[in-house]
Amino acid sequence: MIEVRDLTKNYGPHRAIDNLNFSVRKGEVVGFLGPNGAGKSTTMKIITGYMAPSSGIVKVGGFDVFENPIEVKEKIGYLPEIPPVYFDMYVRDYLSFVANLKKVPKAKVRSNVDRAIEKTNLGGVANRLIQNLSKGFKQRVGIAQAIVSDPEVLILDEPTVGLDPRQVAEIRQLIKELAGQHTIILSTHILPEVQASCQRIIIINRGKIVAEDTISGLTQRMGGSFQVQVRVRRNSEGLQKSLLNVTGVAQVISDGDGQLQISMKKDDEVFEKISAHIVNAGAGLLQMQPMGESLEDIFIKLTAEGASKGVTA
Ligand SMILES: Nc1ncnc2c1ncn2[C@@H]1O[C@H](COP(=O)(O)OP(=O)(O)OP(=O)(O)O)[C@@H](O)[C@H]1O
Ligand SMILES: [Mg+2]
Repeated sequence: MIEVRDLTKNYGPHRAIDNLNFSVRKGEVVGFLGPNGAGKSTTMKIITGYMAPSSGIVKVGGFDVFENPIEVKEKIGYLPEIPPVYFDMYVRDYLSFVANLKKVPKAKVRSNVDRAIEKTNLGGVANRLIQNLSKGFKQRVGIAQAIVSDPEVLILDEPTVGLDPRQVAEIRQLIKELAGQHTIILSTHILPEVQASCQRIIIINRGKIVAEDTISGLTQRMGGSFQVQVRVRRNSEGLQKSLLNVTGVAQVISDGDGQLQISMKKDDEVFEKISAHIVNAGAGLLQMQPMGESLEDIFIKLTAEGASKGVTA
């Protein structure tokens, strides 16, 4: 659905993105992750046709973003970094305006606007002036305008920034609901966000892709070994020894009080074997919690160079 080929953007002498290549399949939700100044917003502005690249090609739904800008813009809902809202309009009127602009059929404008208002919890402020809304509510209006035309593709630049925790959870839920029918790229610094909403992540640092994988694939590639914390009702001492016989288990540490820390090969099968072993031993499994390597560790490792030098700031 989205094809990015050899994409480069220079701002004067500064290269913001450097020969990016990736694609996103229809219905996929991809998280775009990177430190400040990595080039996330620049890439999104180019994909949505709001800025021209220095070189390279972007296609959305088979259309070249720069040769067929109208077709592409009709397909895309875009939440820019700074929500593009008209401050002197009322929320509902503004959303109807955007729906018309996006060529939503007249008969559907009202129901689309209602749906966008409902999904972003704007019901209470639908008849208020946008300029009088709090920051989080302006952000919600930004999300509402991105989804109001029910676009095939959603490009969301830090969708949950400035939102309260409850709304963050609701927006994540919304993104999950949209997955499947919609193709979504979202950028964020918030790591649990990609874990919660995305099937795949692209990590970008100093304008280059440094990793592109599923979350579990990435963890596996970077870490290899993985820790699980287990709590059992009885026989933790016995388990400490017997678990070592499970293929893939490297080390077991017991605190003598029912808690075990297991170092294992990162592999779903090993995870399953460990749980079956504990259950078969009749130890009374109370809790089994993966401890990582966390995505945060991976992110810091992959982006350490640019981040520590601060070269892209
Ligand atoms: N209009 C511009 N003129 C000059 N340089 C720019 C411009 N916009 C962005 N840059 C530079 O390009 C690089 C990438 O910026 P971009 O906004 O794409 O990063 P980002 O990954 O979105 O960062 P953040 O997480 O802070 O939003 C940065 O070094 C930035 O300073
Ligand atoms: Mg940005």
